[in-house]
Amino acid sequence: AADVQSEITKVLVTEEQIRAKLDDIAARVVADYEGRDLLLVGVLKGAVMVMADFARSLPREITMDWMAVSSYGTGTKSSGVVQIRKDLDSDLTGKHVLIVEDIIDSGLTLSWLLENFASRGAASVEVFALLRKPDAAKVEVDCRYIGFDISNEFVVGYGLDYAEKYRNLRDVAVLAPHVYA
Ligand code: PRP
Ligand code: MN
Ligand code: MG
Repeated sequence: AADVQSEITKVLVTEEQIRAKLDDIAARVVADYEGRDLLLVGVLKGAVMVMADFARSLPREITMDWMAVSSYGTGTKSSGVVQIRKDLDSDLTGKHVLIVEDIIDSGLTLSWLLENFASRGAASVEVFALLRKPDAAKVEVDCRYIGFDISNEFVVGYGLDYAEKYRNLRDVAVLAPHVYA
């Protein structure tokens, strides 16, 4: 296995910046959802890290569910075709749902998910995305909580992969072009 440091060109968001941001957003979520049950829906696999840390930043009761969708496969460009690999276990009827995502890139995954959730009878559906690439947007996504707006480069780490690798990096970093050239 290659040395990871030689495969990234720069760190965009550090572990410490992520931690501080999760605390800020957690405080907003606690205030916004006061008196209401809250179901966090993590989008596998990219959202695993942010879901695990964000859930533990919330000093209140929540429940968690997971949906696995994929549009990127092994490339660096969205295929535009979103596939459900694992559906939710829960019935969303009457639930206040907060979708937790690692990144909004083209926006295709989340806009597809929001459409998919619209018919399931939730009381409310909002989105928290840790990262967003404004310059890559192909569709607008109504996202209530955003961690960081970042430049339009292929990023990995903290859940984000390239061909399933680099998800375990602690920071969000730019992948060196020679890796996918
Ligand atoms: C990535 C990422 C988001 C989505 C964002 O998932 O985790 O879910 O792409 O891109 P978009 O805004 O252009 O749709 P991916 O399809 O790579 O699956 P993964 O989470 O299992 O890595
Ligand atoms: Mn994903
Ligand atoms: Mg991916």
